[in-house]
Order: sequence, then structure tokens, then C-alpha cells
Amino acid sequence: MGFGDWLDSRVGHRSAVAGSCQRPLPDGVSWIRALVFALVVLFVFEGLTGFLLSLSYSPSTEAAHASVDYTLNETLFGGYVRSLHFHGSSLVLVLITMIGLCCFYQGAYRGGNEFSWILGIILLNLIFGYTITGFLLPWDQNALWGTKVRTSIMGSTPMVGPMVQNVVQGGDDIGNLTLTRFYTAHFFVLPLVTFGIYVLYRGIKNHLWKKKMGEVSDPNSLPVYWPFQASRDIMVSCIFVGILFGMAYFYPIHLGPKADPLLSYPARPEWFFRWLYQLLKYFEGSAQIIGTLVIPGIIGTILFLIPFADRSGRSGFAGKKTLTTLLLFIALFCTSLTAIAFYHDLETGHFEEVALWEMEADTEFDVDGFYKSECFECHGRKGSGLLDKTPDFSDPDYWSPSRPDVLLIKAILNGVPDEKDELPEDEEMPAYEDQINAAQAKALIDFKLKPFASE
Ligand code: HEC
Repeated sequence: MGFGDWLDSRVGHRSAVAGSCQRPLPDGVSWIRALVFALVVLFVFEGLTGFLLSLSYSPSTEAAHASVDYTLNETLFGGYVRSLHFHGSSLVLVLITMIGLCCFYQGAYRGGNEFSWILGIILLNLIFGYTITGFLLPWDQNALWGTKVRTSIMGSTPMVGPMVQNVVQGGDDIGNLTLTRFYTAHFFVLPLVTFGIYVLYRGIKNHLWKKKMGEVSDPNSLPVYWPFQASRDIMVSCIFVGILFGMAYFYPIHLGPKADPLLSYPARPEWFFRWLYQLLKYFEGSAQIIGTLVIPGIIGTILFLIPFADRSGRSGFAGKKTLTTLLLFIALFCTSLTAIAFYHDLETGHFEEVALWEMEADTEFDVDGFYKSECFECHGRKGSGLLDKTPDFSDPDYWSPSRPDVLLIKAILNGVPDEKDELPEDEEMPAYEDQINAAQAKALIDFKLKPFASE
């Protein structure tokens, strides 16, 4: 008896594999099933990339940012894995929306499948849970300030709000406990629940399958899983994994500046939450609840009730005009709000502001020459400052705790206005935006001003 035979006598894998491959499909082959398979593949993929990221992640306010920075710069393919993990969540969302639309079109929630639909809606909410918790983990400015908005929305819920916010944050503010809790939710609680949902889904599907098989007169006439459905499953999965690899390659995710609770940052949520944030702008004070709970609640309820509201018994959109119109209206509503939000960002120079925060120094710039000709007369040869008001760059305390470069870049480019009008004209910090750009200003800070402190 060879090893294979021995293993089979203990495990029985041969008949199990053959059984799954030869499993008859009473409903025939289906593209929706292939999409669901791809969804499972993407989830497993998220698990894998998440596991790799967790190998060098440390959930504390002190270490989180540095550990992600380490992953990006010191580990093999770290940046690529992180981008895969990040874009994977968007793709999962796109996929689940596609599945929902196909099911709606075909009326696939009929024939006892209402519960699969409801599990899908629950899964959608779990995905939001994953993205909300994952958003905080890199602990950069966007993570902190974006999460602040979310937890304060949570806190604004009448009655239970403050308590929920306190439990989620692990205190009055976002800090170490919040990070630890979000991390545990992200890599333990949510995956556990997701797995539970999957087991339930398989159970329901299996139950329906047995019922249908009982009604089939000639099971041998049915198509079987391998290769008819399997080829579709593999093909669709490959397409989505391919798209994911491409997205991660062409749109790598970078890490913003480290979170600083004292320094407000123009944070933005993920693209699929933009409409909700835009909506909130129209409701203030006690009316806020309309934007945070009422409208999202109505949309959620409509989605939830679709299988029970669709009494048409037909496939296609024409048979269910009211529901289709309603869904179109919701889609249009969310898209318009998203478009308004992006347009507003363009108008107000949001992207320029973010670019300043993430500016990389121009390494070609002759910082010594420029400093000597422009800055020297006021800031001095050693950067300690020659005027009453000039800061002392040579003092290490000037640079700590956190003096974000973005403020200094702005000071150099725009000058520092003498608001109280107490300085003589020739002692004011002048604006240099006509002579240098932001990357060159950043170079002055990194290669000239900061080194003064260690001389
Ligand atoms: C005419 C004198 C003068 C010149 C020239 C000058 N500065 Fe300044 N700078 C000042 C003064 C005064 C302040 C403090 C302004 C204040 O805080 O009110 C200042 C502030 C700064 C700050 C902001 C510090 C902070 O904590 O906000 C930076 C950065 C800076 N200077 C860099 C430069 C660089 C780089 C150059 C050369 C390209 C330069 N300065 C040229 C007078 C000068």
C-alpha cells in the first residue's frame, strides 16, 4: 500500500474530491455562482495578505506607524502586499454589488434563497466593519482624523451614542485601546463572523440542493461541477485576481505622516463612504440623525426587504419596475453626492493641501547655496537665529515633539505674516513661493534646517 492509499484509508479524500467534482447541478451552471466563488477567493486572498502584513505590524500609538513604514520599506514586497490588501477590500465591495445586481435581475433570491440574500446584506455590513477598523491601523494622519469623524458620528446617536463611542474607543479619545480593539476586530472577530456566515450559507445551499435533487427524475442528465461550473469559477476568479494585481501595481498605497492628535488634518473617508459624509453636511445639530441613521437606515431596509417585496415571479428588470426605479434612484442619489464631494475637494484645493503633507524633498536642490543667499542674514550660520523672533533651528527641542513639515513648508512658501504688526518690515519672514517650489522647501527643511539640531 502506497502513501496515497494509506492516507486515503484514513482521510477518505479521494472519494470526497471525486464527489465534489461529480456533484450534479440541478439549476445548471451559473455565472452568479462563479462570482460567489470569486468572492470567496478574494476573501481568502485578503486573509493571506492580511496575515503577511500582521507579521510586522504592532498595534500601539507609539509603534504602529513605524511598523507599517518598516513593512513598506524593509520587507520583501511589503508595499505591494499592503496595496493588494487595501485594493482587495474595494474589489470585494464591487464584487458583492455585482452579485447583488445579478441576483436582483434574475430574481435569484426566490425558491427559498431569501436567506442567502440576507446573508449577503450582512456580509456587506461586515465589509464596512473591516474597512472602518482597517482604516485606523496604519496610524497616519488620515487614519486618525478620519476615524475621529466616525467615532464622533457614533457618539452623536441619541441615548446610546456616547456609551457606544466610549466602548469602541476604549475611553474618551482615540488612543492605544482604540488601536488594539480595532485590530482585534479586524483580524479576529470579523473574520470569525465572516466564516460563520459562510458556513451558514453553505448549509442553506446544501439544504436547497438536497431538496431539488429529490425532485429531479433523472440525476444523470444533469451537468456536473467539474468541469462545467469549475471552469467558470476559475475564469472569473482569475479575472478578479488579475485586476487586483494590476490595481496594486499601478496604484500603490503610500503611508501618510504619522498621526498627531494636536494637528488637525483634512482627512477623507474611502470612496464608497464619500456620499454619506457629503450627506452629513446638509444636516446640523439635532437634525444630524437624519443623515447618520434615518436615510442610511431607509436604504438598508429597502435592500434587506427586496426578496420579500418582489412578488413579480419574473426575471429581468421589466417585471419589477417599482423596485428597479427605487434602486436606480438610490444609486443616482449616492453617485451625485459622491460627485459633489469630489468637486468640492477640487474647488477648495484639498488635493494640493494633501500633496503638501506628503511632499518629498527635491534631492537635486542646492540647499546650501540657497540658504546662504536667502536665509542666512536672519536665521544665521548655525540656524540659531539672529533676530528677536527667529526660531532656533539648532535647538533639538524646536523639532520635538512634533512640528509637522507641512507648516514649515507653508511658512517658507507663504512667509509668516506679522499679525500683531510688531516687527520692522525687513525682519519679517518673507514668502519664497516665487523662487522655489514645495519640494525644494521640503529639501531646505530636511537637508539644511533639521541638521542644525545635530551639529
Ligand atoms: C528677513 C528675515 C528672514 C529671512 C530672510 C528668512 N527668514 Fe525665516 N523667519 C524669520 C522670522 C522673523 C521668523 C519667525 C516668524 C514668526 O514666528 O513670527 C521666521 C520663521 C521661519 C520658519 C518658520 C518657523 C516656525 O516655527 O513656524 C521657517 C521654516 C523659516 N523661517 C525658514 C526660512 C528659510 C528656509 C529661509 C530662506 C529661504 C528664511 N526662513 C528666510 C525671518 C527670516
